[in-house]
Amino acid sequence: MNQRLAGKVALVTGSARGIGLAIARAFAREGASVVIADVNEASAEEAASGLLREGGRAMAVAVDVADPTSIAGMMEAILRRHGRLDILVNNAGVGGNTPFLETSLADWNRIIGINLTGAFLVAQACAREMVRVGGGKIVNIASLSGQRGGNGRAAYGAAKAGLELLTKVMAVELAEHNINVNNIAPGAIETEMAKFAHDEATRAAYNYLIPMTRYGTPEEIADAAVFLCSDESRYVHGHTLNVDGGFRAAGLMFKRAAPPAA
Ligand SMILES: NC(=O)c1ccc[n+]([C@@H]2O[C@H](COP(=O)([O-])OP(=O)(O)OC[C@H]3O[C@@H](n4cnc5c(N)ncnc54)[C@H](O)[C@@H]3O)[C@@H](O)[C@H]2O)c1
Repeated sequence: MNQRLAGKVALVTGSARGIGLAIARAFAREGASVVIADVNEASAEEAASGLLREGGRAMAVAVDVADPTSIAGMMEAILRRHGRLDILVNNAGVGGNTPFLETSLADWNRIIGINLTGAFLVAQACAREMVRVGGGKIVNIASLSGQRGGNGRAAYGAAKAGLELLTKVMAVELAEHNINVNNIAPGAIETEMAKFAHDEATRAAYNYLIPMTRYGTPEEIADAAVFLCSDESRYVHGHTLNVDGGFRAAGLMFKRAAPPAA
């Protein structure tokens, strides 16, 4: 079968587990050399070993995306190994489920620092490299929480809304460098983060509000990422692709009463 990312070097941040790992696995399946970059170094090593065992090409790098020095170290390691970078998925993120009135400045700064500033710093470092090699693909992982006001999502939602707008600015400015930039906005996806950030009330609310009446899987986000990082999406630019089981589209929803028996 034709591999859609053959020969590409792809960095996926926060890919030691969850959505990032599913994306890394899908990219490896499509022929990319994948860089598993995560703040959890041991898990990143384990994830990269797993991909190698499955026949993929992968390396692990430790990075804290909120720390510019750490990002510089990651870029150096990637360029030492591969000499180039073609694809970035800005996926590293931390969840939040703290009411607005209880959100401390420390919480706010931590979440914005990783989910928004971190994505900016990594994208800038990678885009500079892509400019050098003549093009690339960047996908930012935003969230439905950045599009709708949800309970407990003050810092998290603000960071993800900022990331969507940053994507549009990057799309405008990087087009001339042949760098394609888009967002994926996942709805509720079954991962460790969801276990932490979604209590029973959150889960019940999601299942009620999602037309497909279920959480998505990391693999369903990975399939969208493969599309946005392949040549098939070359004219999709500055776009947010919601992968959310219809959550964003839905308005009035009710079950029709059964028709009266004839
Ligand atoms: N799970 C969901 O329902 C959902 C919904 C919408 C958006 N998202 C977004 O998808 C992305 C992945 O989420 P997930 O559910 O797989 O989360 P997860 O918690 O399972 O995985 C996140 C990964 O990011 C890493 N990470 C955290 N902080 C980091 C840092 N400072 N530097 C480098 N790596 C760091 C973690 O170690 C972890 O491996 C996040 O950006 C999240 O906001 C998730």
